[in-house]
Amino acid sequence: RSVGPLAGKKVVVTAGPTREFIDPVRYISNPSSGKMGIAMAEAARDLGGEVTLVHGPIQIPAPNKMNAIQITSTDDLFKEVQKQSSADIIIMAAAVADFTPETHATSKIKKNGKAPSLKLRRTPDILSWLGEHKKKGQTLIGFAMETEKLIEHAGEKRTRKKADWIIANSIADDKSGFGTDTNTVTLLGDAVQETYSGPKKVVARKVLDRIFSS
Ligand code: C5P
Repeated sequence: RSVGPLAGKKVVVTAGPTREFIDPVRYISNPSSGKMGIAMAEAARDLGGEVTLVHGPIQIPAPNKMNAIQITSTDDLFKEVQKQSSADIIIMAAAVADFTPETHATSKIKKNGKAPSLKLRRTPDILSWLGEHKKKGQTLIGFAMETEKLIEHAGEKRTRKKADWIIANSIADDKSGFGTDTNTVTLLGDAVQETYSGPKKVVARKVLDRIFSS
């Protein structure tokens, strides 16, 4: 039996990028490495949580002592998260694609002739869906990454998506953001705004300690 503030709690953590295929050999994605999401999953496990990690294509192996499920597209991620949506805690650290091709060609698009135009549609906003369907006593945690007015936009996101907490992820310098081992984040909650900086694993632990140990 595990001990710690999250003992007996089911925790779902999403991590990494999604891939939105255009045809069998091309896709739209983003530079997410999955490191921050994995750090969150490890921290939740170390606090005693029963963790399911739902991750996109990443280069680092899923940590041990947790259940790992790999997905590819945003639509796949949405289906998987819906299946797991009765969890006690859901941490949406995945860098979800906001747009996906309207159609997915089943054979490779030929490059003879003129360049094709891509028609995109919005993907479902998973965190907003979770906010709308929130279970009693559930804690919903999202991330926000912005190139400008980070705290302001992150705070607005917390309200609009009905998340309990938003972790505003800085990309202001080369020690934070995509692919790095270190990060600077600001945790935003109800009358809470606290900034943590350091290795992603340390930052993840501090954030979860702040949310669950006080
Ligand atoms: O709106 P934005 O993408 O900036 O919001 C970021 C937060 O929302 C992250 O927690 C991300 O995982 C989540 N998100 C989502 N579904 C989307 C886009 C983002 O759950 N389609």
